[in-house]
Amino acid sequence: MAGEVIAMTGCLPPRLPPGLVAGTFVVVAVLASTLIVYRLYLSPIVRISPNEVHINDPEYFAELNSNTLKLDKYAWYYGFAAAAGSGFGTVSSDLHRIRRNALAKYFSTSNVSHLEPFIQKWVAKLCSRLKEHRQDAKVVDLSNAYRCFAQDSLKDSAASIVSSKGRTLENAKPTVLQEIYDSDLPASEKSVSRFFQEAQTLTIAGTETTSNTLSFTTFYLLSDPTKIELLKRELIDMKRDLSQPLAYFDLQKLPYLAAVITEGLRISDSVAGRLPRVNRNAAMRYKSFEIPAGTAISMSIRDIHFNESIFSSAHEFQPERWLGDAAKKQALEKFMIAFSRGPRNCIGMNLALAEMYLVIGTLFRNFDMRLFDTKEEDLTIAHDFFMPFGPSDSKGLRVKVL
Ligand SMILES: *[C@@H]1O[C@H](CO)[C@@H](O)[C@H](O)[C@H]1NC(C)=O
Ligand SMILES: *[C@@H]1O[C@H](CO)[C@@H](O)[C@H](O)[C@H]1NC(C)=O
Repeated sequence: MAGEVIAMTGCLPPRLPPGLVAGTFVVVAVLASTLIVYRLYLSPIVRISPNEVHINDPEYFAELNSNTLKLDKYAWYYGFAAAAGSGFGTVSSDLHRIRRNALAKYFSTSNVSHLEPFIQKWVAKLCSRLKEHRQDAKVVDLSNAYRCFAQDSLKDSAASIVSSKGRTLENAKPTVLQEIYDSDLPASEKSVSRFFQEAQTLTIAGTETTSNTLSFTTFYLLSDPTKIELLKRELIDMKRDLSQPLAYFDLQKLPYLAAVITEGLRISDSVAGRLPRVNRNAAMRYKSFEIPAGTAISMSIRDIHFNESIFSSAHEFQPERWLGDAAKKQALEKFMIAFSRGPRNCIGMNLALAEMYLVIGTLFRNFDMRLFDTKEEDLTIAHDFFMPFGPSDSKGLRVKVL
């Protein structure tokens, strides 16, 4: 019988040389693992842990973060913030809406214009420190200077009530915590612990993100004299009295500055964390996949901001991509998600924008700077601490003021 089988499959050689067997095994193994990796990277949806799927599909971001969906944050993931009592750390979408409404009006566009004097005070301080460093020919650690600026501005404009330990002050300037205190939130929402967590998350969120974007934007401008030239020209053409601070209202009208800020926001990767959301009540659908209720679904801003089919030469700082053709610009803006989207987007967006316009506009109007011993790799993400951080041995962005 065995002889018959061999005869029937007579085309097979009776014995394969061992080298060929081993070689075939290696080829098959390599092909199989390539296919697995290929599948992993080609599929826009990957299950990254027993309870979480990650999706890389720019079109889906707005859908997942739509105002009409009531998605919770993923409690396990946001545990890192240890601030479930803050708007940022609130898991439940219903409770979040109540807490956020009490805060949101404070950060509206029109109200942020009232905060401008607080920001200007710290822009002026930053400028005076730069002048001192110029006089002493000292290197400026601009990454840390920007952190200080962002934190001081934020504390001054949003959280100064902390120093009054939650008591209402006569004639106190309105603060974000005062806003919560005066709101019609139930008493249980006005505990000291919640005030503390709200102040803490606002301060952290408003410090790292803004200063990181400022560092990236400054770095790329200083790396390219033609871009500085375009920006300076626009700022000089404003013909403003330099003894007065440049006003946010005026700076917002400058197209090149606006493009610089937007491109800085794109390339600096405001948040590295993958922003997982959970639909507790119903299954979610992504293409042909049904994702069971309770599953965490995450997406990363970076995947979208660095997608080459949307932002060509995505690793290059090109403010020009935001200029010109209005339709093209609008199509790109859909994918500019530095402040995320929907009900959980960045509550401090207007404040952050005001800070960035005022700092970049004022610094490049008033100073000439040169990079000092700083490479792109000193800023680019090496750690995901929810916010992106560079390599541990990086000294950040350092400049000399000329
Ligand atoms: C601005 O803030 C005040 C309270 O500080 C609030 O009453 C008002 O509604 C806010 N304005 C807008 C346009 O949100
Ligand atoms: C970039 O986005 C397009 C859709 O706009 C998508 O088809 C493509 O897979 C994305 N590329 C990468 C590398 O994620």
